Amino acid sequence: MVYEATTSAPVNIACIKYWGKRDTKLILPTNSSLSVTLDQDHLRSTTTSRVDASFEEGDKLWLNGKEDVIKDGGRLWVCIKEMRAWRKELEEKDSSLPPLSSWPLRIASYNNFPTAAGLASSASGLACLVASLSKLYELPQTPSQLSLIARQGSGSACRSLFGGFVAWREGSDPSGNDSLAEEVAPRDHWPEMHALICVVSDAKKGTSSTSGMQRTVETSSLLKNRLEVVPERMEAISQAIKSKDFEQFAKITMIDSNSFHAVCLDTSPPIFYLNDVSRAIIALVEELNRASGKNIAAYTFDAGPNAVIYALEENMPVIIGAVKKYFPTTEEFEDPFKTQTNDLPEGFDVRVVREGGWEKGAVKGLIHTRVGDGPRTLGKE
Ligand code: DP6
Repeated sequence: MVYEATTSAPVNIACIKYWGKRDTKLILPTNSSLSVTLDQDHLRSTTTSRVDASFEEGDKLWLNGKEDVIKDGGRLWVCIKEMRAWRKELEEKDSSLPPLSSWPLRIASYNNFPTAAGLASSASGLACLVASLSKLYELPQTPSQLSLIARQGSGSACRSLFGGFVAWREGSDPSGNDSLAEEVAPRDHWPEMHALICVVSDAKKGTSSTSGMQRTVETSSLLKNRLEVVPERMEAISQAIKSKDFEQFAKITMIDSNSFHAVCLDTSPPIFYLNDVSRAIIALVEELNRASGKNIAAYTFDAGPNAVIYALEENMPVIIGAVKKYFPTTEEFEDPFKTQTNDLPEGFDVRVVREGGWEKGAVKGLIHTRVGDGPRTLGKE
């Protein structure tokens, strides 16, 4: 008999960045981090896991329809092994349960966003794998407990087990048992939080997060300073989220993105994730904030040139208008606000971006989304 479960899981984008491991095997970070989970209606991974006693020996995996290898001892293999061990424990306690843990697995995972969107698919993908196996094996573990396993697949994946605003606590135990994700606030607490993703490049990044952060740990002296200031930022941004203080939220998000890219530059050899277009987007947001007399938008950049701009729903039309005006995209963008591009704040100085704007395609496409929920269990697809 075949048993199966299908789940979906969201993408998350950090406001306080994870950058550096103190244990590369268990994936234990050098600092805590905090992210916003993005809406799965726009961006998600979907995974179906299946077991059957009659399947040929050995687990198998398909990513976007293409068979992939599950490398022995690799990150994915570790996640599957740990989930199986939890199922085995249940079976040992209750002999009436079917022995799913001893049957071969078939796993198929899809992203609904093109990998070419330049967004990290590993976070939603691995969170989804863990969520799907947890359903299949009917595990009683909480999202925080599941995050311990997802973390070993990819650090940032542990935060995709929750919706809303999520912290990954670095922990101190060498076993890693206290390095897990926790909800700071649910989506419903601040549903006005929206995000605009500006796809600057859809090319695969030059330096992967995994190797880049290791190089930073080994060579950057500025990282020590970053590790001293992050705990305060974690505290301050959690407070800002709880009190829905966008001004503070934006300030800390932008500072931390810049601090992360500064340690990248301080790495030897240096790592450049931002390009000229990324920097022009930074200038645009800074100028919008200055001309508005308050922070109406916050940019953040991961290990690549694509910008994520967080803003409250009420300010999104102005931000979309400015981005569309100065960075005409090549890809069609369905603007939910039907934004008029001329309603910029008074005193906005176009020179910071470039008089006349950038050539078409400097920003290829835009994705407008908002804060979203955690993994969902789906029916048969
Ligand atoms: C810049 O989670 O991709 O996006 O744990 O090695 O898989 P590994 O790294 P990964 O790193 C993400 C880095 C980041 C910041 C963040 O998401 O916090």
